Amino acid sequence: MDARNGIGGSLTGLDLRAEIDRLRKERNAVILAHYYQKPEIQDIADFVGDSLDLSRKAAETSADVIAFCGVRFMAETAKILSPHKTVVLPDMDAGCSLEDSCPPDKFRAFREAHPDHIALTYINCSAEVKALSDIIVTSSSAEKILSQIPKDQKIIFGPDKHLGGYLSRKFGREMLLWPGVCIVHEAFSETELLKLKAQHPGAPVAAHPECPPHVLDHAEMVGSTSAILEFAKTTPHDVVIVATEPHIIHQMEKAVPEKTFIGAPGADGNCNCNICPYMALNTMEKLYIALRDLEPRIELDETMRLQAKKSLDRMLAMASSTVGMGDLGARVTGD
Ligand code: 13P
Ligand code: SF4
Repeated sequence: MDARNGIGGSLTGLDLRAEIDRLRKERNAVILAHYYQKPEIQDIADFVGDSLDLSRKAAETSADVIAFCGVRFMAETAKILSPHKTVVLPDMDAGCSLEDSCPPDKFRAFREAHPDHIALTYINCSAEVKALSDIIVTSSSAEKILSQIPKDQKIIFGPDKHLGGYLSRKFGREMLLWPGVCIVHEAFSETELLKLKAQHPGAPVAAHPECPPHVLDHAEMVGSTSAILEFAKTTPHDVVIVATEPHIIHQMEKAVPEKTFIGAPGADGNCNCNICPYMALNTMEKLYIALRDLEPRIELDETMRLQAKKSLDRMLAMASSTVGMGDLGARVTGD
């Protein structure tokens, strides 16, 4: 038995779809899935969305159990916002290279070295780093939130240097960038992308802002996963090149089956290097076990959770309005 991931015993012969459905009702559970999950998981989920949509759903659901099919920082976000619910993640090893790049002790030291800066932090980080931050952003809320921060306010942006760099260029605003990257979006090849564009003249490239600038430079559209999906549905073009994790193409093909979606290539032009290895750890078997055993479960220290909730609540408020960042209180000094 693998205690951390709950794998043990034979599941042979089980109708996993039916069993997951049965357990979802028995447990009063909601299954939330990110667009980067395997198609069978997206199809059984109650809700599929981007990081902001999923945070909102986690905050407002009346279910007793949240089965989070995504990565650990997403499930932690659900627990921060809904502490009285049981939050399970099918595989506790489903991490994120951005989270790994930003250990809390180093982030704290960085903040302390820049006491006049606020920390605007991408949601792809640990709960501890959220607790050390002032305002969280997702790729779909970052621009709206940044536009509400006074121009003279100095900002640390972490942990994704590519998203931070994209925002910096777009807003003409200098920010101190933490040097993290997403290994998935980092792996797209500019050379192979240009070859693909030449093979499909006129096909727009829709790219996630986690991509490096040499990829974004060739994109007709840059946005979060939900914005890319919306673009795929509404663009008049029949062929779209998709520069983000390719499992999102499942939703595009369901929404507009008459169009063609091509995943942007990695270095050898034909690799699987753009599949997120962390997201891929979740399977139907592990989802079934998570609902059956209510493990692996997210547990957080309460003091840290409350501190992390402040920065997430600011994001949810600022993403829904234009009220400005308000009084950040003691956190600005990194206390
Ligand atoms: P969004 O779905 O919020 O665009 O985030 C993409 C991502 O990489 C999540 O890990
Ligand atoms: Fe992290 Fe990148 Fe995977 Fe998203 S796609 S979870 S940013 S490694």
